[in-house]
Formats: sequence, C-alpha cells, structure tokens
Amino acid sequence: MARITAGVYTSHVPAIGAALDLGKSSEPYWQKVFAGYEFSKRWLRENPPDVIFLVYNDHANAFSLEMIPTFAIGTAAEFQIADEGWGPRPVPKVVGHPELAAHIAQSVIQDDFDLTIVNRMEVDHGLTVPLSLMCGQPAAWPCPVIPFAVNVVQYPVPSGRRCLALGRAIRKAVASYDEPLKVQVWGTGGMSHQLQGPRAGLINRGFDNAFLDRLIADPEAQAQVPHIDYVREAGSEGIELVMWLIARGAMSDAPPRVLHRFYHVPASNTAVGHLILENT
Ligand code: DHB
Ligand code: FE
Repeated sequence: MARITAGVYTSHVPAIGAALDLGKSSEPYWQKVFAGYEFSKRWLRENPPDVIFLVYNDHANAFSLEMIPTFAIGTAAEFQIADEGWGPRPVPKVVGHPELAAHIAQSVIQDDFDLTIVNRMEVDHGLTVPLSLMCGQPAAWPCPVIPFAVNVVQYPVPSGRRCLALGRAIRKAVASYDEPLKVQVWGTGGMSHQLQGPRAGLINRGFDNAFLDRLIADPEAQAQVPHIDYVREAGSEGIELVMWLIARGAMSDAPPRVLHRFYHVPASNTAVGHLILENT
C-alpha cells in the first residue's frame, strides 16, 4: 500500500523564485533565506519520495474570478508553468501522477469532500517556488507531483477545521492505494504577510511561531482558529497558512519527529517559515 512518510511546510514567496531564476541567490539578502533550506535539499535527496502531494494556492493564474474551486486536484499527466506577467518561470514542467490523483479524488469525494477535478491546469509560484526551494534548479523535478489547489484568494475561504479534516481524508485515500509508494505531503504558503492597504508589510513573529508550535504539537487546537483571526493577526495573505493544516491532517496522529525548523524575516513582504516533519 502507499504511505505518507513526511510532511514539508514552506512559504512560497515569488521573489524567491525570481532570485533563483535571475542568479541572485548568493546575494547576502537571499543567502539568509536559502541557508534555511540547505538541510532540506540534502534531506530530500537522501529521502526521495515516489510522489509529492503538494497543497498550494493559485494566484488568479490558473483560475480567474470566472471560476473559483475551493479545492481542486490536478489529475493530468503534466502541468505547464503559468505566465504570471513576467513570463513563465524557467523551471521544468510538472509531471503528475494521474492514477494516484484519481484514486485520491474517488476516496475523498466518497468521504464527503467536494473536490474539483482538473485535467488541464497551469501551475504558478505557489507550487513552483516550494519545489525550487527544496530541489534547487534541476533539469527535471525529482518525482511526480499531484497539485492540490486551495482557494485562499477570493472569499469565502475554507476553515482550518475543514482543512485538517480534509487532510485526514487524504491520508486514508493514500493508505488505500494498492502500490507501495512513498508519498510526501507538502503544505505551502504563508507565513504572516499583507500585500495591500494600510497594513501592507505586516509581519507578526509571535503569531507565526505560535502557529508553528501548534501545527507540530496540537493541530486540532490550531484547526479551531477562525479565518478572521488569521487575517487580523497574520495579514490578509496570512490566510494561506490554513493550507498547512491539510498537509498536517494527512500525517499520522502520533506526534511527528521535527527534522527541521526555520523562520526568517524578511523575504520580500513576508516572513518565511519552513518545517520538515516525519511520521513516527
Ligand atoms: C508575495 C507573497 C506571496 O505569497 C504572493 O503570493 C505574492 C507576493 C510577496 O511577498 O511579495
Ligand atoms: Fe501567495
């Protein structure tokens, strides 16, 4: 049977992708960010998954205001890189895993979660920047990736409670897939940031670190936090953090082993947070 081995959590700041793509990663400003991923890149090389289930949000690139799925699973064989206005990032296309994705869709929908099935979709920095942070700049990504897009851009957004429960349904789905695949689940986005309005530039270190503590040790309590608290405390884009609860719910109930924890301010307008948790 397939099994989830570990969870990776990371911010997805687009300027990080631009720093890599434009050869600026050795500049002191960016070195401080990339230093937090040195362990992670080594760990991923030494612990390669067969598939990555990557929870992220699209930023009005694949989905416009014409159609806004709350939860969308990418079931295609491959996903092209979106053009976000400066041209698509020069990174490899994303190869999917249609069989496992279809199996997860079947199981999770039968468990009462309404997923949108997407057979054609481009992926933006929400998905490619985490891959770049964890894999560097390879000619091809190291394994198939199932993109799982969550709407945290256009209100109403899903609650943390629902995200955690959805993660649990994804865990059950993976565990019933009849092939011995090692699956990593990644939760991306966050941490505190607000990109517009009078509070633009907001960073809340206290909220971010309490979130990391509770994501590790008490996800059930974190899942009770209403969306408006994220917006008030972590900024309008801080709501991206609810996606981490999907990945956390997909991990086992036993306390995880914390392999790596990193927090750094600033990267562009955000705080960067990163965790690697292993199932015990
Ligand atoms: C920034 C952060 C984001 O999460 C995003 O989607 C776009 C921009 C930023 O910090 O600039
Ligand atoms: Fe974002």
